[in-house]
Amino acid sequence: MIPVGCHERPFDASILGRQVWSLEDITQAAEVVDAARQLDVGLVFWRGEVDKGLVLESHGFRKIETLLTLRCALPQEKRALPPGIGIAQVADADMIADLAAEAFRSDRWHTDPEIPNDRADAYKAAWAHNNIMGRAGVTLITLTGAGEVTGFNSMLFRDDALIIDLIAVAPSHQGQGLAGRLINAAKADGAGRFKTLSAGTQASNAASLRLYDRHDMKESMRADTWHWTP
Ligand SMILES: CC(C)(COP(=O)(O)OP(=O)(O)OC[C@H]1O[C@@H](n2cnc3c(N)ncnc32)[C@H](O)[C@@H]1OP(=O)(O)O)[C@@H](O)C(=O)NCCC(=O)NCCS
Repeated sequence: MIPVGCHERPFDASILGRQVWSLEDITQAAEVVDAARQLDVGLVFWRGEVDKGLVLESHGFRKIETLLTLRCALPQEKRALPPGIGIAQVADADMIADLAAEAFRSDRWHTDPEIPNDRADAYKAAWAHNNIMGRAGVTLITLTGAGEVTGFNSMLFRDDALIIDLIAVAPSHQGQGLAGRLINAAKADGAGRFKTLSAGTQASNAASLRLYDRHDMKESMRADTWHWTP
């Protein structure tokens, strides 16, 4: 049975091929790790206030990332989507999943050396695929003339906030301003419907920090993620 102070993560487990738990109550860390060892859990993670996680070190957790939340206000007058931007359809889901598997490298699954890279790729692919199949409110895309998806920005609708859930550009098309266009498109799409645009990224992700800074998105929150693996 799953111990007090943590929750099962069935989606994560389905990709990792072993149970994944999120630790919610940091004071239960010792008991949760004991149970995780007995039940052959593959990953326990905790995310919370910076430095609060230091107590986890003695229980065998490793600090994996510092996650920044960035935010800007959205214009209140409605705008048209800029040219060259499309809205992803179900038929694009496989192409976007492949792009996600290829592009993401700074997230906590890829940067944890204890998680196999093919699982980290599969995690991002499945996440992106689910977004296109209905999890996200909208996914904006950039396309080549031949209709190949070169970048995507998958967003969630949460009350008056528009949230960038996953954004990536195919490695062969990076550095050409496509992500910048996807952010401008997000602002146009959200204007008049949402008050704020926000995104989360790792403190180590120089490209995305530069991107958000260029679009006047300012840090509103910071959290650390810690992993325990057997
Ligand atoms: C982050 C990402 C989406 C940027 O896409 P992109 O199309 O290459 O970005 P752009 O060309 O619009 O560039 C945006 C800014 O970042 C800068 N930039 C791009 N790559 C960079 C790098 N590796 N290091 C530092 N800055 C970088 C660009 O110079 C540009 O700044 P400028 O306008 O001052 O010149 C892309 O690197 C990516 O897909 N990364 C993997 C997925 C990911 O990490 N997503 C974000 C995490 S939530």
